[in-house]
Amino acid sequence: MVAINQLYDSKFKTLPTITIQGWVKSNRNSNKIGFLVINDGSTLKSLQVVYHSDHSSWKKITEITTGSAVSVTGTLVMTKNAQQPFELKLESLDFLSLADKDYPIQKKAHGSEFLREQAHLRVRTDTFFAIFKVRNQIAFAIHQFFQAKGFIYLNSPIITANDAEGAGENFTVTTIANNQYHKDFFGKKAALTVSGQLNAESFAQGFKKVYTFGPTFRAENSNTTRHAAEFWMVEPEFAFASLNDTIDLAKNMVASVVSNVLTYCHDEIEFFQTKLQQEKSNKDNKEQHDLITMLEKLTVLDNYQVITYSEVIKLLEKAKNNGKEFVYNDIKWGMDLQSEHERYLCEEAYQGPVFVINYPQAIKAFYMKANPIDINHPEQKTVAALDLLVPGIGELIGGSVREDNYQQLLANKEQFKIASEDLQWYFDLRKFGYAPSAGFGLGMERLIMLITGVNNIRDVIPFPRTPGNLMF
Ligand code: 4AD
Ligand code: MG
Repeated sequence: MVAINQLYDSKFKTLPTITIQGWVKSNRNSNKIGFLVINDGSTLKSLQVVYHSDHSSWKKITEITTGSAVSVTGTLVMTKNAQQPFELKLESLDFLSLADKDYPIQKKAHGSEFLREQAHLRVRTDTFFAIFKVRNQIAFAIHQFFQAKGFIYLNSPIITANDAEGAGENFTVTTIANNQYHKDFFGKKAALTVSGQLNAESFAQGFKKVYTFGPTFRAENSNTTRHAAEFWMVEPEFAFASLNDTIDLAKNMVASVVSNVLTYCHDEIEFFQTKLQQEKSNKDNKEQHDLITMLEKLTVLDNYQVITYSEVIKLLEKAKNNGKEFVYNDIKWGMDLQSEHERYLCEEAYQGPVFVINYPQAIKAFYMKANPIDINHPEQKTVAALDLLVPGIGELIGGSVREDNYQQLLANKEQFKIASEDLQWYFDLRKFGYAPSAGFGLGMERLIMLITGVNNIRDVIPFPRTPGNLMF
């Protein structure tokens, strides 16, 4: 048995006969000759199998339906077609499992919305095959990046008693129906984690450099193309680190992962490039969407800009005065940046990745470290935080330096009204030799969207969970 991707390696081309196992993407025939197109999961490229009317099973083969699982044996024949340099001349065929005629993934192109309802089958389309191949490569590249830098992989818990971000977006985990959590499984209220950061901080005080990479859950009722209720987050945390170190780590990570994918998923990226250009030209838009150029830009560290929140406000005010229309246009210091503002920054003002740093304390999480007071604006309290904004997505990464002062952290807890009974261990870290620590969280799905150009988070996670949607 040979995999289709191996056929591109010359030593397999010389085998007298080969057997391929895979799924039929199409089957067409005239009176004399037929073509089965088969994909076996090893590559985006399918193999064309040629059969003739003198074959003893001709009739049965002509009836093979799209989607069927088959095993074919034959000889490889070289063609003059650059796209498809060889085909298989069929000798024998095993009908492993015929698909019913109503198999939903037919040859014609289906819309993403239809395919979301077929999430159990959509991986058999070229688009979803390519998306999930890239997803796999990104996950591997993330581990490679951190492992090469000496970061230790930490599995932070999924079930937790804390709300790390303090945003009240936890899903409750319970075995009872009456809210009497003291009688529940854990003897108290439990939830699915919104972030592994707090646990990562504990491990960073022993290993110095750690990262978590796992599923994260948020009951955020925002039905957007960039929010999912279950998503994967990568959270590096490192001790003895500053905000600048964190910016460096974040941009090196994104650059390294993008360049890894450009190298190892070349076929898939080319596929997305072509697809996006076709979509654009269908919309009669002359402007070419050049995915590869955009991705190559992300591999160059000098292309990442850094700007403070206060500068952002000035920039937005200036844009507004020059006629830029924002839906939320009450631009003033202290406001939370809306996604339209974030996208203005990275898509129009800078046309590339931008780190926004030093946000107002009041709009960020309780654990972020306060910056020294600015004597010109003593009322403008900021924290050593960063967000990385990227074109087409907006926020890809959020992170900060952590408050390392025990008393200050307790004061923040009061100010932010954080339920603290389960966080004492976290505060206590500050009492037992807490080296200044910093880190960030990167949304895996948003990175996949950035790299593939896919514009809905529901299409980059195998089985999406969003408000009102729990299929599969
Ligand atoms: O900015 P966030 O909320 O940061 C944290 O959770 C910190 N504890 C991270 C840290 O410092 N260790 O989330 C981090 C990233 C966001 O920038 C975004 O990419 C992604 O996680 N994210 C989501 N992705 C998909 N769906 C959602 N509902 C998301 N919420 C956040
Ligand atoms: Mg954030």
